[in-house]
Amino acid sequence: MNKSYYFKEVDSTNEFAKSLLKEVQEWTVVIADVQKRGKGRLGKTWYSPPEGLWFSVILKPNSLCQLIPLVAGVAVCEAVKELGVDARIKWPNDILINGKKVAGILAEFEEVQLSGDAFAANPYLASQGIQPIVVLGVGINLNISEFPEEIKNIATSLLLEKGKPFDKEKVFKLVLKKIEEKYNVLGNGKVTSPLLDEWRAYSITLGKKVRVWTPNGMIQGKAIDIAEDGALLLKLPDGKIEKILAGECSVQLED
Ligand code: BTN
Repeated sequence: MNKSYYFKEVDSTNEFAKSLLKEVQEWTVVIADVQKRGKGRLGKTWYSPPEGLWFSVILKPNSLCQLIPLVAGVAVCEAVKELGVDARIKWPNDILINGKKVAGILAEFEEVQLSGDAFAANPYLASQGIQPIVVLGVGINLNISEFPEEIKNIATSLLLEKGKPFDKEKVFKLVLKKIEEKYNVLGNGKVTSPLLDEWRAYSITLGKKVRVWTPNGMIQGKAIDIAEDGALLLKLPDGKIEKILAGECSVQLED
């Protein structure tokens, strides 16, 4: 971690992080007790009371941006496993325990134009003139004992699953350490396969019949694998393979 901004209350840690992009260094972290307008994927809101862990990390990757949400998904699963909780990933990045959502990841992709020293310092980026930036938002339902009516059947918390509260600072440090470890492997010359294999091992989506709601409509098929860029590979009823980059996935019960 480079620098951290802590708020008792903020609209959204991702939004605040986005207001900092030009000035700050990679690994700047924004963390808040409460988010008044916590953001979920696909324009949804994210319930963010003080009992949860809500933070965003600013990353400035040289490549493989699309895999960063997967880095976070695997990192969260590994961290909670160390805390004695068995969590799984539903594509793309819903972290579930017994089918209920315990954590979510919202990665927002931005770019800043490079100039002067920053431009000259990085030959890879100098060829493009832009610096990709990822605001990686992680939300973990830590010690929440009750959820609002609308989500109480689909959400859970570590407290509800383990019957004991968790230390927020300890969980935060552990998850951040796991994100750093996995992200650094990505940065070291495109070694993606260990990460993808770890993701596959935590996935509850692969091998199942699924429905995916994409920006272009609903698509149904068997989830056969995850591609090198994090996309889901679906085998359609006519045998064609479809690559899905973004969407909301529901896993059907039968194989
Ligand atoms: C999802 O829909 O599954 C993604 C939820 C992401 C929530 C986190 S909480 C910290 C960060 N700030 C936000 O406003 N959202 C993310």
